[in-house]
Amino acid sequence: MAQFDTEVSQVTMPRIGDRAPYFEAPTNHGNISLNDYKGKWLVLFSHPSDFTPVCTTEFVGFQEIYPDLHQLNTELLGLSVDSVNSHIAWIRSIEENFNTSIEFPVIADLDKEVSMKYGMIMPGESQVETSRAVFVIDDQQKIRSIIYYPLTTGRNMQEILRLVKALQTTDEHGVSTPANWQEGDKAVVSPPKSQEEAAKRSEQEDIDYIDWYISKKDIQ
Ligand code: BEZ
Repeated sequence: MAQFDTEVSQVTMPRIGDRAPYFEAPTNHGNISLNDYKGKWLVLFSHPSDFTPVCTTEFVGFQEIYPDLHQLNTELLGLSVDSVNSHIAWIRSIEENFNTSIEFPVIADLDKEVSMKYGMIMPGESQVETSRAVFVIDDQQKIRSIIYYPLTTGRNMQEILRLVKALQTTDEHGVSTPANWQEGDKAVVSPPKSQEEAAKRSEQEDIDYIDWYISKKDIQ
């Protein structure tokens, strides 16, 4: 492990359920802090480096889901260890080449302060670039989900959107969402907490009963 014995070994990793670590940081839209997102959901994501091909496709993809995220009271904030000038130049290039407008800000984390707080650097993969991390932070500034992808694999934007919808559906209806759940699908009812509740499950009229521990429910 000697090769990891550098400054990046100080990386901390927030976990699901933790309060989102506070940050203040420069971006291509000016200085931003976590407080700016109070009362909103936030998808905070890191990318390895500006002017790289997979990251470029991801930025086009993130912009494509940005209006849908807005509908969900959700903001998008990127991050890499490049400078503000680099972000500006790269975003201008993406906008020209892909006929789009990148509307969300991107943190210039040159001193790695935010990436270390959020555990975005995977020293075994790269000590100088951030991996493809995604943190979904809710409107109470709690970390609700974390996704990591390696440098070489672009993320699935529809999955990120689905994840935000699923988390918000859980909050709104007190349900869980099954595998491959999409908006409009039935949700999963919490399993019974006692023998008595288990026995009564099959008699419940507002649910699709499958067995005592699994039932689904229309949430429209
Ligand atoms: C890319 O975005 O294409 C990329 C960035 C860092 C390492 C590998 C690929």
